[in-house]
Amino acid sequence: MATRKIITQENEILRKISKPIKNFDEDLWELLDDMKETLEKSNGVGLACPQVGVLKRAFVISLNNAYFEVINPKIVKTSGKNVAQEGCLSIPNVYEEIERPNVVTIDFEDRYGNPMSITATDFMARAFCHENDHLNGILFIDYLKNKPFKK
Ligand code: CO
Repeated sequence: MATRKIITQENEILRKISKPIKNFDEDLWELLDDMKETLEKSNGVGLACPQVGVLKRAFVISLNNAYFEVINPKIVKTSGKNVAQEGCLSIPNVYEEIERPNVVTIDFEDRYGNPMSITATDFMARAFCHENDHLNGILFIDYLKNKPFKK
């Protein structure tokens, strides 16, 4: 395993649409292992492939002593609303209140291509939505009316 460099806001890779993963092979597993290590080292909640410069539809989440590898996610159901503070490893030192669904159901695949599904609530739902957005080139600051800017 190795850590990978997390790219930041100004890098246009973060604005691109990621491609579905078709090969559940050792290259994918190495990527996922590296992302886990990178997430642990940075004390983050979630990390999506585009954040390490790879335009593939996968992300990892570490929250409440649970760890998820989420490949080819599809949000199939959302309900409710929840407003809470949110940040992003690619936008250091910016935290803003963002509205997200309170409950979200996501279908996805695991690292072997097995179909999986999870229904998450509250902050876990927020994390899944935030990371899923990364695969579509969306950053959380896009939801703000008054966008913060860094010096
Ligand atoms: Co993020």
